Amino acid sequence: MPARCGKESIRGESTALSRLAELATIPELRSWTHSQRAAARRIALVPTMGYLHEGHLALVDEARRRAEAVILSIFVNPLQFGPREDLARYPRDLPRDRVLAEARGVAALFVPTVETMYPPGSEVRVIPGKTAERWEGAARPGHFSGVLTVVAKLFHLVEPQLACFGQKDIQQLTLIKRMVRDLDWPVEIVEVSTVREPDGLALSSRNAYLSTADRSRATVLSRALLLAHRAFCEGERQAQVLEERMAGELRREPGVTVEYIAIVEPEALEPVSVVDQQTIIAIAARIGGTRLIDNIRLAHGLT
Ligand code: PAF
Repeated sequence: MPARCGKESIRGESTALSRLAELATIPELRSWTHSQRAAARRIALVPTMGYLHEGHLALVDEARRRAEAVILSIFVNPLQFGPREDLARYPRDLPRDRVLAEARGVAALFVPTVETMYPPGSEVRVIPGKTAERWEGAARPGHFSGVLTVVAKLFHLVEPQLACFGQKDIQQLTLIKRMVRDLDWPVEIVEVSTVREPDGLALSSRNAYLSTADRSRATVLSRALLLAHRAFCEGERQAQVLEERMAGELRREPGVTVEYIAIVEPEALEPVSVVDQQTIIAIAARIGGTRLIDNIRLAHGLT
């Protein structure tokens, strides 16, 4: 971990040495947002579960291009994890996250406890519609209700002008855009392209779980997506043909179990039989014990 010599942040405020305010409570957060609004600064929110990587930092870069004050939340949201999922072992490294966030120009970190976000007795949840039923929603029951509940709460607390989300979690992004539209929320949702390793693997905090052998196998996801994109560029329009080619590529890699290949339209993520530029192709697969997701839009290919 890089040294943080003389750069400790003080709770609820920034110091002469550090520009990063660290906020843990709702009064601290409200006081910070109030001061930003009083100074006529546009606020951009970057919600994360921490263990920051270049994918999160690309969200910060985009937020900084569009707003004067960027606040990054770090909260491993228990509501979005199923009972057999990885909540307890989800990677966490707050000291490193602080250094990375500050170096990238984040103005404030919001790092609440579970009790702050969900005080005892809290029971109201956001229930998504049918766009949440397929794909990730089918594999992870309750996941999107947990995501939308925490995002709704963050939007209420921060009241940002805009919030940045990655295209890598395409169904999450689609549902957040739909929630904002359905509930007439005055927040702009900014989509940021997936950031990849040089060999194509999409960045994810869960890549930290991969063994060396599984890490090298994991590139099969982006290879399969690339194959589908090439076939599209060569004129193939049948979803079934693209799916079969991808499934073949994925089958060739030992230790990889495909959960779904979704070839869908972008509004409600419903399957299509004929693809076009707008079509999204998403994959979920288990590589060893690790579940990974990735996707492309046919208009763009691997970003
Ligand atoms: O994408 C994530 O990291 C999380 O789902 C989010 C949006 C921060 C909500 O907990």
